[in-house]
Amino acid sequence: MSEFEHKFQNSVYTRVALLNRIMIYIVKRKGKQIRPILVFLSAGISGEISEKTFRGASLVELLHTATLIHDDVVDDSFERRGFFSLNALWKNKIAVLVGDYLLARGLLLSVDNQDFDLLGISSTAVKQMSEGELLQLEKSRTLNLQEPEYLDIIRMKTASLIASCCAMGAKSVTDDPVVVENMRMFGEYVGMAFQIKDDLFDYGDEGTGKPSGVDIKEKKLTLPLIYALSKVDRAEHKKVIKTIKGYDSDKNKFNYLVDFVKTNGGISYAEKRMVEYQDKAFDILMKFGSSAYRESMHDLVVYTTKREK
Ligand code: IPE
Ligand code: IPE
Ligand code: MG
Ligand code: MG
Repeated sequence: MSEFEHKFQNSVYTRVALLNRIMIYIVKRKGKQIRPILVFLSAGISGEISEKTFRGASLVELLHTATLIHDDVVDDSFERRGFFSLNALWKNKIAVLVGDYLLARGLLLSVDNQDFDLLGISSTAVKQMSEGELLQLEKSRTLNLQEPEYLDIIRMKTASLIASCCAMGAKSVTDDPVVVENMRMFGEYVGMAFQIKDDLFDYGDEGTGKPSGVDIKEKKLTLPLIYALSKVDRAEHKKVIKTIKGYDSDKNKFNYLVDFVKTNGGISYAEKRMVEYQDKAFDILMKFGSSAYRESMHDLVVYTTKREK
């Protein structure tokens, strides 16, 4: 990973002064780097890690960083990785352009090295992420979201990129379509568990490096709330929806909604579904021969569902 970080830093270097200042800011506040780690482990499980694997890892982290910057503009969120988000410091205009710049740097990294297979896999994911975020935005207007639609949204906006990490890792070392597809499926299940966990954070205390209650503020119904709403009578349903509609980050309203979700089993239900996806990922992992990479991959999946940020 230290070799990766060095390469990643070089991949965002620019001579444009303002842009470079922002790039230094981004590189300094790195995240958990789960996606590049997944690229390396998927490659290690499927063959011999190569330079192309490193480029795949940089590509996904570039794309991921770009989407987070845009996501914070879309969600009007001012905290990221325990510090101010780009839109909080430099405003939306600059954040939008910086996101585009990172996306372009990712694409160029692949084009310059003729990694067209990786480019194909990642572009599919980027397309799906945009579709997922747009579908979510559309659904937040009506406040009427059922579990199957929620699962579609998170599959598109989050699981698609994590699936592409695993497919790209494998593809960087083998052309065997069965191996690549198994890795892609594995990543998709990990991604589903990953986003359910992230959505649970929104109901918790701060301390994750991101504000809580943002999903409610943005009228994004997520699994804990969707389940709790399905358990109550019309009158209570109506009352809760009304509270969400008028929610303005008021602490008392937030506590009321968290209580409502907890009392009606929303948290434990979401945790149960998350573990189901984790187990599906494990089933696929067991198709691969035993190795240190498989062991680490297993631990990383456990971390996905047990993490505290
Ligand atoms: C955040 O992803 C966006 C989601 C898909 C929930 P991460 O939690 O992996 O973000 P960083 O890179 O570690 O900050
Ligand atoms: C995932 O959704 C965002 C992306 C797919 C980029 P969220 O909006 O829940 O992510 P966070 O919580 O802001 O990281
Ligand atoms: Mg967000
Ligand atoms: Mg979130």
